[in-house]
Amino acid sequence: MEKQSTVLVGVTGCIAAYKSCEIVRGLQKRGCRVKVVMTEHATHFVDPLTFRSLTHEPVAVGLFDDPSDPIHHISLAEEADVFLIAPCTANVAAKMACGIADDLLTTTALACTAPLVVAPAMNVHMYEAEATQRNLRTLKARGARIVEAGSGYLACGDVGRGRLADVDAIVEAALEALEGARRADLAGLSVLVTAGPTEEPVDPVRFLTNRSSGKMGYAVAAAALARGAQVTLVSGPVALEPPAGADVVRVRTACEMLEAARPAFADADIVVFTAAVADLRPAHPADRKLKKGADDALLARIELVSNPDILATLAQERRAGQTVVGFAAETENAVENARVKLETKGADLIVANEVGEGRAFGTDDNQAVLVSRDGERALPLMPKRQLADAILDRALELRAAH
Ligand code: PMT
Repeated sequence: MEKQSTVLVGVTGCIAAYKSCEIVRGLQKRGCRVKVVMTEHATHFVDPLTFRSLTHEPVAVGLFDDPSDPIHHISLAEEADVFLIAPCTANVAAKMACGIADDLLTTTALACTAPLVVAPAMNVHMYEAEATQRNLRTLKARGARIVEAGSGYLACGDVGRGRLADVDAIVEAALEALEGARRADLAGLSVLVTAGPTEEPVDPVRFLTNRSSGKMGYAVAAAALARGAQVTLVSGPVALEPPAGADVVRVRTACEMLEAARPAFADADIVVFTAAVADLRPAHPADRKLKKGADDALLARIELVSNPDILATLAQERRAGQTVVGFAAETENAVENARVKLETKGADLIVANEVGEGRAFGTDDNQAVLVSRDGERALPLMPKRQLADAILDRALELRAAH
């Protein structure tokens, strides 16, 4: 029987500590064993007895509380398959960034080699303070997943960023980290993903775009992160939360997407071009709103020019050892068209998917054929997240075969 994974939940002194109870329950519902370590300040918000009742495990607070375990921080650190700190105060983030270990939670954090997931929560000004942002960047650069705080009405009365992220998003980030620790087959690799549509302005209020929701690309980014990769996600305008831990670059137009992708492409080991890039853009976007009536002639004849083909352009700049994956979105003859795109765009793998009639665009599931020079693999309809893993599996096989 597979060993039950242990998530060590660190709770720090913040009003959002009450939400840690829901996080503990959420992790338990997904099959995890949960242990809790609290700072002394956190016990002012939630009694350790609450967590002991929820987890049926002793709750650790003081460095010297457990006489039966003289080096408690080490045994806690070793038991953890993932260390999730939620909520994480500005103070605890700062201490971890500096390597300060002056209580049981921060000492355990320093001793823990398991993946670290940090969900900050604090007042908006504390969250946006340069020191806090720098500390969170430091933790992220060391491999921690930061589940960014949300915006809204804060307990202190201020409105802005600093609210603990949604419980479900935090649970999901911890599970992704667990899954990544289990597989970790992309550890040490950089993955670049393009996602979503592009918007090509006609005037300040109108633009040309397409139906891409970004779900497929975001699923690829989440899968790569879960498997230990360092991920850059270059995203067109979408309404999705990016997966925790990705370096996200938001763009609007195809030209912006090319410029944003180029530096990350140079460093990437695997590149997945999922974005639905507009092939054409208005040649002369107006700098004022074109008026119905007065500007009918201009609106009826919008001159279009070709956008750069991001995949084809960057594939020409590739260096040895890079694996380039593209998509082919087709309403017919997907595999035949994918074979052509494999050659004309210079990719190693094309994910052919049929679109239209409710398929692929905006859906949670997708059906694809993986087309490479050594043949095709038809996959059944499956969740985009699962397809993302299948694409990364194939990319790794192609890398190994090179
Ligand atoms: O975002 P979702 O709602 O989840 O939908 C997913 C999807 C349908 C967008 C996705 O599965 C998909 O098919 N993405 C590629 C869409 C597309 O533009 O396909 P294409 O056949 O036109 O382009 C072929 C490849 O060239 C793609 O990898 C594309 O990213 C790339 N390309 C295309 C044009 C261009 N100017 N630059 C490019 O890089």
